[in-house]
Amino acid sequence: MLIALHVIADLFWVGSILSVALLLARGPGDAQQRGAAARLIYRSIAAPSFGVAFLAGVALLGMNPTLYFKATHYMHGKLPLALGVVALHHVLGARAKKMEAGELQEAGPALGLGLGLAALAIGSALLVVLKPF
Ligand code: HEM
Repeated sequence: MLIALHVIADLFWVGSILSVALLLARGPGDAQQRGAAARLIYRSIAAPSFGVAFLAGVALLGMNPTLYFKATHYMHGKLPLALGVVALHHVLGARAKKMEAGELQEAGPALGLGLGLAALAIGSALLVVLKPF
């Protein structure tokens, strides 16, 4: 059940944080308007679903550390990729906040960060589904 909760939250999380990156970089309006639109998605979908995905993932790890860190090894690949997704999520959220506040006039590398996040999320999901090692 916790795995289902984790995966469902991942769907909302990754889809919505990619929308944040796209709105920042290519959305309509000026930087402040794009920041406001991106932050609406960030606060209403991306941040809460990240919280659920993260807590469910950490609970799964805590419930069976021997399975994930001794009996199998795919988590040693999956976790760094997942933590990369978490880091980029926070960078994009911070950029949306600054653009909305008028402190930043440019999306900067937001689109590239989104693409990087997508690649890490794909790698993370592939590793944990295929369990190649
Ligand atoms: C936020 C940090 C994360 C932690 C701590 C975490 C942890 C976990 C754990 C412990 C499992 C159970 C693995 C198993 O028993 O097979 C799992 C499953 C899964 N995770 Fe994550 N995860 C995180 C982020 C992500 C991300 C970013 C993705 C990709 C979008 C992802 C995709 C999946 C999928 C698809 C499964 C189900 C695998 C299966 O049972 O077939 N996770 N995760």
